[in-house]
Amino acid sequence: MEKISAFKNYIEMEEVLEKYKTTKLEDVKIWFKAAPINAFPKDGGACVKYKNLQIAVFNFKRLNRWYACQNLSPEKQEMVLSRGMIGDHNGISKVACPLHKKTFSLENGENLNGDLDPIAIYPVKIENDYVYIGFAE
Ligand code: FES
Repeated sequence: MEKISAFKNYIEMEEVLEKYKTTKLEDVKIWFKAAPINAFPKDGGACVKYKNLQIAVFNFKRLNRWYACQNLSPEKQEMVLSRGMIGDHNGISKVACPLHKKTFSLENGENLNGDLDPIAIYPVKIENDYVYIGFAE
């Protein structure tokens, strides 16, 4: 019985993960108006909802750069990445999952200190002091 329930959980987690797909700038069809820039902490992250997705948005104030990625950590399937520490890995902006400190590039989603699947990342633009996140659908 336990095995069946573990398998069911695995399938459900896979279904959740599949909703998150890296979107390239050239594939953006919808610029979702997320929130004013001052709704986001400086040099930190916050979570935004778009359809049935949770997206972590990061304001690298010191670098004057913004990033967006899935809020879901691919390891334990927890919605936590927006609460992760942000920083720099050899010039690559990154976020560390607050649970087990696995780090991910915010440039291409790659897991920088392990072999986890990459996270999905999304383009961000700022217009008239508002943060927009780009989606393909
Ligand atoms: S749950 Fe995110 S690194 Fe373990």
